[in-house]
Amino acid sequence: MVAQLSQSTLLAWYAESKRDLPWRHTTDGWQILLSEILLQQTQVSRGIGYWLKLVERFPTPQSMAEAEVDEVLFLWQGAGYYSRARRLHALARQVCLPSSEGGYDGVLPTTSAHLLQLPGIGPYTAAAVASIAYGEPVACVDGNIRRVMARQAKSANPSVKEVEQWANRNLFHSDAGDWNQALMELGATVCTPKQPKCDGCPIAPSCSGQLDATAYPEPKKIKRKRLDLMCELRYDSSGLPFLVQRGEDGILAGLWGPHMEEELDVESLIFIGEVKHVLSHRDIFVQVWLGICRQGMDPSTVAVSALDRKILALGDRQGYRS
Ligand code: ADE
Repeated sequence: MVAQLSQSTLLAWYAESKRDLPWRHTTDGWQILLSEILLQQTQVSRGIGYWLKLVERFPTPQSMAEAEVDEVLFLWQGAGYYSRARRLHALARQVCLPSSEGGYDGVLPTTSAHLLQLPGIGPYTAAAVASIAYGEPVACVDGNIRRVMARQAKSANPSVKEVEQWANRNLFHSDAGDWNQALMELGATVCTPKQPKCDGCPIAPSCSGQLDATAYPEPKKIKRKRLDLMCELRYDSSGLPFLVQRGEDGILAGLWGPHMEEELDVESLIFIGEVKHVLSHRDIFVQVWLGICRQGMDPSTVAVSALDRKILALGDRQGYRS
């Protein structure tokens, strides 16, 4: 007979062992929202620096709403998944609209139901912010919590609904924010995908899967797509590259970089190499072709993605940049 998951043991472990992360020192909903959006697709260790920069420049929704989206993208460069930055800017503008126009008069809504109405906010982020910043007794579900659940219940492939039911059944209502974070923290630091530390796990007594923990949950087969692109990297006579700002759509929308297409006319250009860039569901291969232009620009003054940086670095290595 497996014991019931002990809430008090997990909460005590969290109080004692949690990482000292900067967003854990604030109760400000906007600043907690920034951390949750960053952590969706950026590792904690890399997210800290971005969070500190964002909070310093945009301490309130107003400060971001008054800025141009390019400035948000500029601070976001290198963090990836740039649609998050554009939606965050749209969210700030919507929050700052008057309530007569469907906004919130500059004050972030405090319930998960209202947060869910805002651009870029899904069920996870709405529940995380509402519980952590405002104490709403609502369970959140992310990849870490799914793994903890799968091992506790010895379930190879739990559905979203099963994980939600488990999270709701076990929710600690009087401090849902710490409870949600304790589960996520356990998943991130103890109940890890590889080499979980079951010996030091505070909820091992209720874990059905611990003898074969890495079998739960079954790894998902991600179908990776290959995308082949061609890039013309053109320099002016002083060694500055020609950059364009990409349009509204696509993975690099709004960011600056050398011109890229699936097919390019490369007559009069010289092939200098291939750059590979791996995203979560996509492998991007870019053939880089060198040419000249009349007037380039300084890449440090605009938002440039990690992929574009690799392309520019290839040009630098070849000594084309002065
Ligand atoms: N992952 C995303 N948000 C988190 C949080 N607030 N605590 C721990 N891990 C997280």
